[in-house]
This record gives sequence, structure tokens and C-alpha cells, in this order.
Amino acid sequence: MVVMPSNPTPLIDLDWNKFNPWAVTPVTHRLSDDPRFRIESLVELAKRLDSKGRIRAHTNAAEAGTSFANAPDLHPVKNNLIHTMEHIEAAKAWMSLLNVQTDPVYRELVDEVLDSIRSNVELKDPGMGYRGGWIFVSSPKTVTPFHIDKEHNFILQIKGQKTIYVWEPDDLRVVSERARDRFHSRHDRGLIAWREEFRELAHCFKLSPGQGAYMPSTSPHLVEVEDAPSITVSFTYYTDSTRRDSLTHKVRGRLAEIGINIPSSQGASILDRALYLGARAARAATRAAYRATGRRVGEESATYARAENA
Ligand SMILES: [Fe+2]
Repeated sequence: MVVMPSNPTPLIDLDWNKFNPWAVTPVTHRLSDDPRFRIESLVELAKRLDSKGRIRAHTNAAEAGTSFANAPDLHPVKNNLIHTMEHIEAAKAWMSLLNVQTDPVYRELVDEVLDSIRSNVELKDPGMGYRGGWIFVSSPKTVTPFHIDKEHNFILQIKGQKTIYVWEPDDLRVVSERARDRFHSRHDRGLIAWREEFRELAHCFKLSPGQGAYMPSTSPHLVEVEDAPSITVSFTYYTDSTRRDSLTHKVRGRLAEIGINIPSSQGASILDRALYLGARAARAATRAAYRATGRRVGEESATYARAENA
């Protein structure tokens, strides 16, 4: 018999009996008053992360259809980033503090939140790992361009209002299977293109402090800040199912590059299962070879997301 440890009160609330790890879900949370989200605390965090290149920023010139990957280069924030954050209301800037789990103070926060929901998540979606935290500090009327990410994501509003447009991870009208294959195989979002008519197909969440959304791995999303400065946090992780889905897409993407196109099956076909099992065996062999030569392996199964320059 497996004995489950006693669990803290969940800091994120949803109907866990109905939780579907591959469906977009509105949530509520009790983090808005946490002092670690006060702007002065975040400025201190930003100072610690800035020296490691872990702040991403662009101006309010970025739009829904701007390349997510290139937005910081296309629309750079010219002022000092710490000064920008201290004056965020007038700065016309979007800022993201990346991989805050690399900071001891905020790693504790990431663990508090994810530990509080882990048993509920894992009843449906076992294997939580690669924990990450991301804090967004944004001027009024700034936009996070349309994109997808690999992790499952609880995005929670702390201060100000935001509108989040999010689509189901299997909505092929918005992002094709081929685009997801490419994303997983090359971490390239080049086949993901924004169209204004997508808005009508979206879940649209108008978030105030205390509210949020659960976005499964590769759910397309677009975020727009309303009329006041905004603070938002995302808690992210992989599970066995995200790793399986990612590896299957990765193999499909690599096969497509050599002219072998597997028909879309949304992860349910015998062929996809065979691809996954074959890829898993090949990966195990590769990792054994890596270990034998002293190279780092098993990144996706790490407890915390690995940041560049870590
Ligand atoms: Fe995202």
C-alpha cells in the first residue's frame, strides 16, 4: 500500500474531482497578499536575476502577432531594467523574471505552491518535476505575444487586471500538429502564426487578483494587460504525460525533416505509441552512452527547471 504524506492546504483552488490535466481550467488562489510579490521584493529579486541574464523584457510595441521569441530584440527596453521595474506604471514595458526557482527565496515559494497541489495533480497526472516559476511585471496596455510553451502552467493574477486568451492544447484550428512537432523537435515556434479571428475560438479569462487559469502543455495563449500595472506569476512543471507527449512530437518532427510525415492523430494512435516506445528506447541507449562518457543527462526529469547559466 502506498502511504501518502499529509498535505498542506492547496494554495490554488479548482474542482480537483473534475481536474483534467489536458484541459484549460479557471482557478482561484490565495497568493495575492504574499509579501514576496510586493514590488519592492520583486525589485530585489530582479537585481539578483539581472546579473545572470534572467530578465526578459520588451516594450509595449509588441503585439499579439509579434514573434514571441524575438520580441525582446524587435522591441527592446532601452532603459536600465531595474529602473524600468521601479517605474513600471509609466515605463511602457513588459518584463518577465525568468526561472525564479533558481533563487533560494523564490524556490521556496515555488515549492510551497506546487507541494500544496501536488497530490491533487498527481492523482490524475503523475510525475511532477522540472518545477519552475516566472513572474511578470508589466506596464498598462502591454501584450505577451501569441505562443505555446512545453510545461503545464498555473498562471495566477496578483495585481492589476489581465485578459488571457487561451486555446485547448489539441485545438488544431489554432496551432497545427505539424507546428507542435516542430516546436518539440527544434524548440522553434516558426510555424505558429497569429490570426485575429482566433480570438473568437478562445477561452477568454479576465483576471483580477485572486484569479487565474490552468493551461496544459502547449495550450496556445495570448495575454493583454488592462489599464493598470500588473503582476502575474506562473508555476510550471512537467509530468509523465507531458514528457511522453513531447517525445512523441519530437520524433514526428525529426521524421518530417527527412520527408516522413506521420498523419495527425493527436497522440492516440497505435503508430504514435510505437513512435514513443521506440524513441524512449533510443533515448535510454543514448543516455547510457552519455553517462559512460561523464556527460549530463536526464534534464527533463530534474526536480527543478534548469536555467541557462545555472
Ligand atoms: Fe507562455
